[in-house]
Amino acid sequence: MRVLLTGGAGFIGSHTAVALLERGHEVIVLDDFSNSSREPIRRVEELCGKQVTLHIADLTNAASTQKVFASESIDAVIHFAGLKSVGESVRDPLLYYRTNLMSTMVLLETMALAKVKKLVFSSSATVYGVAKDVPVSESSEVSYRLSNPYGQTKAMIEQIIRDAVVADSALQIAVLRYFNPVGAHTSGRIGEDPKQTPNNLLPFVSQVAVGLRDFVSVFGGGYDTPDGTGVRDYIHVMDLAEGHLAALAHLKSGVSTYNLGSGIGSSVLDVINTFSRVANRAIPYEVVAAREGDVSCSYADVTKATRELGWSTHRTLEDACRDAWRWQSGNPHGYASQASPRGVLAVSS
Ligand code: WQD
Repeated sequence: MRVLLTGGAGFIGSHTAVALLERGHEVIVLDDFSNSSREPIRRVEELCGKQVTLHIADLTNAASTQKVFASESIDAVIHFAGLKSVGESVRDPLLYYRTNLMSTMVLLETMALAKVKKLVFSSSATVYGVAKDVPVSESSEVSYRLSNPYGQTKAMIEQIIRDAVVADSALQIAVLRYFNPVGAHTSGRIGEDPKQTPNNLLPFVSQVAVGLRDFVSVFGGGYDTPDGTGVRDYIHVMDLAEGHLAALAHLKSGVSTYNLGSGIGSSVLDVINTFSRVANRAIPYEVVAAREGDVSCSYADVTKATRELGWSTHRTLEDACRDAWRWQSGNPHGYASQASPRGVLAVSS
């Protein structure tokens, strides 16, 4: 298939591009590079020995988006593009509503004009809000009063998609609710490259390990969890990428929603200790107050994705930490790094 990846130069998008190319699909990337660059695309091509068609365009601009669709024959779209910082969305809600909602509406309108009917949407477990029970299943209630505009845009986009499907029964859409994507491609050539101070745990731990930061602030030590720190479902980004291919292969009329997670809960200290072991170095941390809006424990019920998509994760948290460390130690400043003079630092097996 010829698959268009909006935001395909980003963390999940670039890893999904590798998985698609390795299975013989053709990849077209539409990205405005507002939170990425050409370098990950170049490395994806280098890794796979195949070309990626790149369009640098603003997905909120209908004319430029229509030009991309007119110049390509697209069989399916995976929609990654969007702003995704919880904290930034609280500081600048209008930016998040305009960008994330407008880009999705322009995409759906352009797909209708081009008669492209297959879509996979990158949603998030954040739509569950303060999940009542764990493991969280797709039937868990989506909260429409989320603690942050980022999560609110994901819930709203899911509603837009449900309404679009009612209006056009030929649409075949999968909504994928990611839990906590972590890790990197095993080559160490592509990975997560946050532009500002990382909001998320694993890239922060990784930057402490490589010496960019002094210590990890552990947000809360008094939760009702085995070690008192927050529990989440960390899913290796390559397992997540493969989940997109499974969703594409099983698209059917209407909209189908799936949790993509490992189904395993790991605490903040589990992550820190695992990363310390694979990087073979101490990772200083300090337990501080809990972060506003955080839930104590969230991990996925993935039985639906396994049953309907024939998909489940097979990489562990340790694999994710090992692969993240190989990426970080080989690229201390992300894609802006010059080749590390020492090459890849030792990665313990
Ligand atoms: C994980 C755990 C923190 C940072 C968010 C978004 C979600 C998705 C994934 C985009 C929690 C703790 C974190 C730190 C810490 N993003 N933590 N110190 O909050 O589960 O989910 O990212 O789709 O939509 O909501 O992920 O990595 O921020 O936090 O102790 O410096 O690590 O309290 O328990 P989260 P996270």
